Amino acid sequence: MISILFVCLGNICRSPLAEGVFRHKAETLRVSDRFAIDSAGCGGWHKGEQPDRRSIAVAARYGIDIGGQSARQVTADDFHRFDLILGLDRDNVAFLGKMKPWESPAKVALYLEEALGRSKNVPDPYYGGPKDFEDVFRLCDEASDALIKKLIGD
Ligand code: 4NP
Repeated sequence: MISILFVCLGNICRSPLAEGVFRHKAETLRVSDRFAIDSAGCGGWHKGEQPDRRSIAVAARYGIDIGGQSARQVTADDFHRFDLILGLDRDNVAFLGKMKPWESPAKVALYLEEALGRSKNVPDPYYGGPKDFEDVFRLCDEASDALIKKLIGD
């Protein structure tokens, strides 16, 4: 079992898509029993909220339902519960690196770097428009394929 936590700033736009797309692909490939996945935010402002409706909408256009997710903040315990903690952008990775307890065996990394070997942020779409959410979806789509392949082989 490989446990993965996807982390962005608010846990309402990007990381819910990273979580939802990864889960959908793992289910489609019938390998979901090999993963435990979740998402969280560096900040807790949106705690308990559903994903942003623009993230719900873009996922729905591709047949993926992320409406059941509920935002939460990263906790110290996460560094003991997850093998892999992936920040969607470099600010998230820096935050996670500072928060990580010294004794935690978790690997903290940049999402697109870990998945695709591309040292690139998933840009924050919060103040953007539908095109920005579509871009986030596409990046998560590509990254999830690569990450599953990397973690379980093909
Ligand atoms: P996310 O987007 O980090 O992809 O969930 C944001 C959501 C909320 C805020 C910023 C980014 N905010 O400032 O409340």
